[in-house]
Amino acid sequence: MTGKHAQSEEPRLEARGVTMRFGGLVALSEVDLAVPAGQIVGLVGPNGAGKSTLFGVLSGLLRPSAGRVRMLGADVTAAPPQLRARRGLARTFQHPELFASLTVREHVALAHRMRHHRRRILTDLFDGRGLLGRADRDETEHVDALVEELSLTEVQHQPVLGLPLGTSRLVEVARALATDPLVMLMDEPSSGLDVTETEALAATMRKVVAERGVSLLLVEHDVPLVLGLCDTVHVLDFGQKIAAGTPEEIRNDPAVRAAYLGEDVDDLPSGGELVAPGGELA
Ligand SMILES: Nc1ncnc2c1ncn2[C@@H]1O[C@H](COP(=O)(O)OP(=O)(O)OP(=O)(O)O)[C@@H](O)[C@H]1O
Ligand SMILES: [Mg+2]
Repeated sequence: MTGKHAQSEEPRLEARGVTMRFGGLVALSEVDLAVPAGQIVGLVGPNGAGKSTLFGVLSGLLRPSAGRVRMLGADVTAAPPQLRARRGLARTFQHPELFASLTVREHVALAHRMRHHRRRILTDLFDGRGLLGRADRDETEHVDALVEELSLTEVQHQPVLGLPLGTSRLVEVARALATDPLVMLMDEPSSGLDVTETEALAATMRKVVAERGVSLLLVEHDVPLVLGLCDTVHVLDFGQKIAAGTPEEIRNDPAVRAAYLGEDVDDLPSGGELVAPGGELA
């Protein structure tokens, strides 16, 4: 683990008292949430609960009406997404945003170069070497490791166009990890994936957190996935945080059960097992 990833008292990412109003609508009301080092934190809630809004506030796309966002204790409430990225925040998208003609490996290499050798991209372009001229040993080693860790070795020289969605999402994760983030925000990572792909993604995320010490915040509809994967889960309902705790605590929380009224909460998995999205609550 590098110094950058050393344990710190301060959460890597934190929302404190975040309120977001859209005209008369209160989409978030004084929400607190912390993502500690090396943890997987989940954010769930029924439709319209405010999950995407909080994601926007944390990633810097939305400026909250009140409250603060901090990274390692530093206030980033007013910092744009690029600045947060430089401080170690990475994200994946609900609909993978990839360059169709670049190969899997080129995506990862480009992300690594943007983070570690940004100037070389410019000189290569000026010197006519193209977007991805010579790779040095450091880049090659980093990219090799990520491609292997995310089980992308077989497809690494294929263009991303035409890859299955599950594979595209792994490419996005590899690309985010190539920037050596402290925290990765994942927006609905299971959306559009089948059961097998969801299980593969969950296993990969566990491995990545254990091996790299990165922290994850998942914003997810798939409650069983979140309960099976996360150390801590926060539950939003109508912009209010109604519960936070371990998966076991969340599973047994009366307020959570009430928020998901009409759904069969007894279908929730017990003891960290992963259940197919068919059994999901949201
Ligand atoms: N830009 C906006 N302008 C006005 N209202 C908004 C805006 N964005 C979100 N809202 C409202 O804020 C509330 C929370 O929306 P949000 O998208 O954060 O919920 P969500 O939990 O992500 O829901 P879903 O599970 O459907 O994705 C909703 O009532 C939504 O209509
Ligand atoms: Mg949403």
